[in-house]
Amino acid sequence: MTDNRWPEGFLWGSATAAAQIEGAAHEGGKEDSIWDAFARVPNAIAGGDTPERAVDHYHRMPQDVALMKELGLQSYRFSTSWARIKPGDRDPNPAGLDFYSRLVDELLEADILPWLTLYHWDLPQALEENGGWANRDTAARFRDYAVTVYEALGDRVTHWTTFNEPLCSSLIGYAGGEHAPGRREPRAGLAALHHQHLAHGLATAALRELAAEQQRDLKVGITLNLTNAIPDDPADPADLDAARRIDGLWNRMYLEPLLLGTYPADVLEDLREHRFEELVHDTDLRTIAQPIDFLGVNHYHDDNVSGRPLPADAVPGLTPTDRPTSSPFVGSEFVTFPSRHLPTTAMGWEVNPGGLRTLLVRLTAEYPTLPPLYITENGAAYDDVVSEDGRIHDSEREAYILAHVDAVREAITDGADVRGYFVWSLLDNFEWAWGYEKRFGIVRVDYETQQRTVKDSGLAFARLIADARTDEAALAAGPASARV
Ligand code: FCB
Repeated sequence: MTDNRWPEGFLWGSATAAAQIEGAAHEGGKEDSIWDAFARVPNAIAGGDTPERAVDHYHRMPQDVALMKELGLQSYRFSTSWARIKPGDRDPNPAGLDFYSRLVDELLEADILPWLTLYHWDLPQALEENGGWANRDTAARFRDYAVTVYEALGDRVTHWTTFNEPLCSSLIGYAGGEHAPGRREPRAGLAALHHQHLAHGLATAALRELAAEQQRDLKVGITLNLTNAIPDDPADPADLDAARRIDGLWNRMYLEPLLLGTYPADVLEDLREHRFEELVHDTDLRTIAQPIDFLGVNHYHDDNVSGRPLPADAVPGLTPTDRPTSSPFVGSEFVTFPSRHLPTTAMGWEVNPGGLRTLLVRLTAEYPTLPPLYITENGAAYDDVVSEDGRIHDSEREAYILAHVDAVREAITDGADVRGYFVWSLLDNFEWAWGYEKRFGIVRVDYETQQRTVKDSGLAFARLIADARTDEAALAAGPASARV
């Protein structure tokens, strides 16, 4: 790339999630979410870590927003905790709503666009005890929760995301068992998948109705984690079929109902013994497929897929989520991260920025009704070291982020309508089943003192934003002052 120009209005931000940063898990009226309960299951989470304190954002929110301002973020993607806003899914909790109301005010005051996600995996435990997402009624409960949040914040928040990565909160939580609620029930995983789609549709409709009544601007969408499933050996039919199945289960089971109003026929055929169709009532797909204003794309790495058993010398699964997710449904195929001899992050995930470009271009080509795209998560975990100068010279993370940002720009040049990039994550935080072991922040958190230190990657990201904005301003002022 020879210059730093981005489409006008391109949005730069950073993302977090409630259960990963807030702490105060049983304060201010909040009750258990499924992650609080899951953390009490022996060996469920690395090091026996819990979200109880996390990075104490609940108490440090104003300072954290000041940090965002210092970095020059234009938008902040955060999630609201259902178990804080409606503990036990009962009546709204004024203290919980007040926390998010103050956060939104603080952001607006700092000229940072609030980008709100309603569900980033933390179902109230009370609902889980009633069947959780495997129970169809949870979709209606979600709609009611969405309405409660909208009634409190809809006067100030314009950008709403219903779900973050439903693949993880359905199949990984209910069928794979590596995430809360830790169930290993294939049929429950599929029910959760469909019911989350339905919940998305019901909430989208409810929010649109409320916004229309009040004549408010509303942008509503969903965030999916999407991958390129690469056959390990493109000449091997077993690998090709495994790649088709993974693409089906991880991408198309989400994209197609949401964008096209259908489930992919080949995947339904693969799932025949689980009788997926019985979960889908007459008007469900119409509810699910209503128009969205944007699609959030989370992408960290591609997936190298094989239909053959693991070779004896293969590195076993490097993450809690790399293999069992698919196993209840697709038999012996698996996903191997390290086998393409690419560098890997501390998660064992391949570093391959070209994959992001490919993905964005593919989505653009394959879905004519695709709404504008935002990269709502991308980033990397590395084993950071605090240097003697007190700084964190995380050059690998910096390189990862800059290379992926470049890949986004290339995809835009290729015709993809990408309108923003949110780095994961603002702060080191509670990385789900990995506990505090894996650090994704562009800002380091000392978990003893809760002190925040901007890493080199954070400084680089701030420079990138500043440069992009300077160039945008120069372009707006006219061609003579624009850098070429
Ligand atoms: C995504 C999650 C996010 C974070 C990153 C590393 O799957 O949405 O919360 O854990 O991975």
